[in-house]
Amino acid sequence: MHFEFTEEQLMIKQAARDYAQRELIKDVIERDEKAIFPEHHIKALAELGFMGMLVDPKYDGGGMDTISYVLAMEEISKIDSSVAVVMSVNNSLVCYGLEKYGTEDQKEKYLKPLARGEVIGAFLLSEPEAGSDATSQRTTAEDKGDHYLLNGTKNWITNANSASTYIVIAQTHPDKKHKGINAFIVDKDTPGISLGPHEKKMGMRSSDTHSVMFTDVKVPKENRIGEDGFGFKFAMKVLEGGRIGIASQAMGIASGALERAVQYSKERKAFGTEISNHQAIAFKLADMAVRVDASRYFCLYAAWLKDNHQPYGTASAKAKLYAADSAMFVTTEAVQIHGGYGYVSEYHVERLMREAKLTQIYEGTSEIQKIVISRDLLK
Ligand code: CAA
Repeated sequence: MHFEFTEEQLMIKQAARDYAQRELIKDVIERDEKAIFPEHHIKALAELGFMGMLVDPKYDGGGMDTISYVLAMEEISKIDSSVAVVMSVNNSLVCYGLEKYGTEDQKEKYLKPLARGEVIGAFLLSEPEAGSDATSQRTTAEDKGDHYLLNGTKNWITNANSASTYIVIAQTHPDKKHKGINAFIVDKDTPGISLGPHEKKMGMRSSDTHSVMFTDVKVPKENRIGEDGFGFKFAMKVLEGGRIGIASQAMGIASGALERAVQYSKERKAFGTEISNHQAIAFKLADMAVRVDASRYFCLYAAWLKDNHQPYGTASAKAKLYAADSAMFVTTEAVQIHGGYGYVSEYHVERLMREAKLTQIYEGTSEIQKIVISRDLLK
């Protein structure tokens, strides 16, 4: 067993860290306050090869491994999770789904521009009445011979406005329940698609989240991914990798909060000494560090399994569960250590705490991860 990173993995981590610490930091507070989509940062990350980092170079991707992805996600999420989630959805859900299950024509037309980062993608699974209960899809995809007709509403869609390519999950044969669900590639500018207002979120406010309505949207038959009825399994397989991305995001948020808390506690004085000299603070830092490191090991292990073509669904659920819950713990403690300063935006930790909360909710709540883990234990 090796606990060493390769030179290439360390270079990727450093490139992500440099960009985050030099560029993302400059306007992260303003973008959060005004909910401004980080368009120029996404372009810059595309130039670094980070928008399609896992995709094979023959489809214009970066050809990097999942370990590198975890390391890059950590560094970006330390500073700005709104940027990290765009990266994660594009890489883990959209590019991975197309590369693994798409046809050569679909890869040529859709995957390549996504992998180059010229356009970004969105993954449309959640619905007003099908969030955790993903088999209960109400959006319909009626088979009309040479095309499908999509009708319905999707909710909480990350990148809904900024994406050009949607992957939409919809029900074609309601009598067959989850076995009648399909996944489709849909161009966002297809007639019949409309967006709800920008959701005013508690955190990750500069990533764009909307509901998406489909009214008689025509989708060519060749845009279906996989065999008829493969859509639910497709969504589940893709989410297995997505959870590595969100676990790494949560770990990065926690890791960023810990770095800030350590630095602050060495500068701030109370009762005649730096507060790090008080055990009340030092013990908090120790508890936080253990959670951050354990989260990182969970993420790296799930990534290693994926890179080595072994089953990783349970490992990614464990990583996401532990890292998200730990991010909530660590960021709350970081705010506490900062006292009043922790509660204002300038010190960043209140934003990290708001961001941490979302990692317990999207790409499957913490409770959903427990379902996945316990079912594997008990099967
Ligand atoms: N791989 C392959 N197949 C799988 C699978 C997996 N990981 N998990 C389930 N399946 C299959 C099952 O084998 C079963 O198939 P068969 O009938 O052929 O045996 C079928 O799918 C149904 O499975 P279950 O009976 O386990 O289904 P369930 O209704 O009990 O639900 C669940 C399972 C794990 C709870 C699932 O519904 C789930 O993951 N829900 C959460 C959805 C989610 O994460 N949404 C996030 C939205 S995306 C997002 O947030 C992106 C973003 O914008 C940031």
